[in-house]
Amino acid sequence: MFDHANELLHLLARWVHLIAGIMWIGNSMLFNWLDRNLEKPPGSKPGLVGEIWMVHSGGFYQVEKKFLAPAQLPKTLHWFKWQNGITWLSGISLLVLIYYMGAAAMMVDPDVSAITPQTAVLIGAASLPLAFLAYDLVWRTAIGKSPGLATVLTFAILLGASAVYFRYFSGRAAYMHVGVLVGTLMTGNVWFVILPSQRELIAATKEGREQDPAIGYQAKQRSVHNNYFTFPLLFIMLSGHFPSTYGHPQSWIILLVLAAGSAFVRLGMNMRFTQPMWLWPTGFAALGTLALVLVLVGDKALLSREAGRATPVAFTEVAEVMHTRCTPCHSSTPTDATYKAAPNGVMFDTPEQIITMAQKIEERAVKTKSMPLANVTKMTDAERETLRAWIAQGAKGP
Ligand code: HEC
Repeated sequence: MFDHANELLHLLARWVHLIAGIMWIGNSMLFNWLDRNLEKPPGSKPGLVGEIWMVHSGGFYQVEKKFLAPAQLPKTLHWFKWQNGITWLSGISLLVLIYYMGAAAMMVDPDVSAITPQTAVLIGAASLPLAFLAYDLVWRTAIGKSPGLATVLTFAILLGASAVYFRYFSGRAAYMHVGVLVGTLMTGNVWFVILPSQRELIAATKEGREQDPAIGYQAKQRSVHNNYFTFPLLFIMLSGHFPSTYGHPQSWIILLVLAAGSAFVRLGMNMRFTQPMWLWPTGFAALGTLALVLVLVGDKALLSREAGRATPVAFTEVAEVMHTRCTPCHSSTPTDATYKAAPNGVMFDTPEQIITMAQKIEERAVKTKSMPLANVTKMTDAERETLRAWIAQGAKGP
């Protein structure tokens, strides 16, 4: 059933990643929402921050957020840390299984840079802890007391790491590394800042003293960061399904616009219950995204206006290109060293198979050039032009 133990591992890791990720992000959104909707009834007990009533699963829920006196600390206190821990661990497993173990095809693109797969893996793996250390240092030290400067430095760290990724990796690996980096910062925030602050809160409650305000303040800062990282992170995790994003010649601009735009949407959602101007950031994000779509559409129009081959392309010529450049992988009997089964079940053995996939062939081999994978079969631009012209002429059969 599975061609490799590898594929089964991959499925399991991805499944766990999705489940843990939904639980982690879902939970954190719920707590964010709770915090924004708490109400403080007049004349309420001391220590109460606010309360909220909800209806769900056959009953009413009353949640109170409060500070406790030492004697009030309950026996069972629920923590939420493994949802994040498992999301990160399964995500790193996927990174290793898909990108690092398949680095020659997945990380390296000879059109971008001629680095070896080993160097690519080294850059990717080393960048994650280094970027977290730099980011943590910025917010932990005196610089963190001036949030404006610290924010600028945080963007500099993110952009700097991204620049390295886009300089050396294939578009898709660059996107994914930006995502894994953001996820690593979020996870570091949870384990090294937010959880210690919760431990300090419990210790302070037990000893009947105030929580150290500096620790609480830092934890709040990091959880705000995590809040804004969420939407961009989720876009990147989906981007592998959208070759027009990571396969675009200016793929980094698309990433920047969608990441910033989705963080603005988050800002709008955060402001929604407390500030009347909440639609502004969301509208701003929508406009940015619209502009991006227009640019992309304009870009496609440009592509099709490109002066190309006008003479009719014979199908035999197309079949020849497909058989030398694509069927080493996309066949019922692949000859590629890595892919022992047709990737995504897509095969180009017969004329019918090629013709029905014409649209997708254009998308991957002409417009985004994301196929052949890492151009391992060394497809030339002239051959891409042959495919483009054939499709433009109606993708006719033999
Ligand atoms: C080295 C192996 C390899 C070669 C050679 C290769 N591909 Fe692929 N192809 C893959 C893999 C792996 C995937 C799945 C991952 C992805 O979508 O990026 C894929 C996916 C695709 C898809 C997406 C199918 C879907 O379900 O959306 C298309 C279309 C495609 N390839 C077309 C081509 C064309 C056209 C060529 C030749 C010009 C080609 N491929 C050459 C490995 C290869």
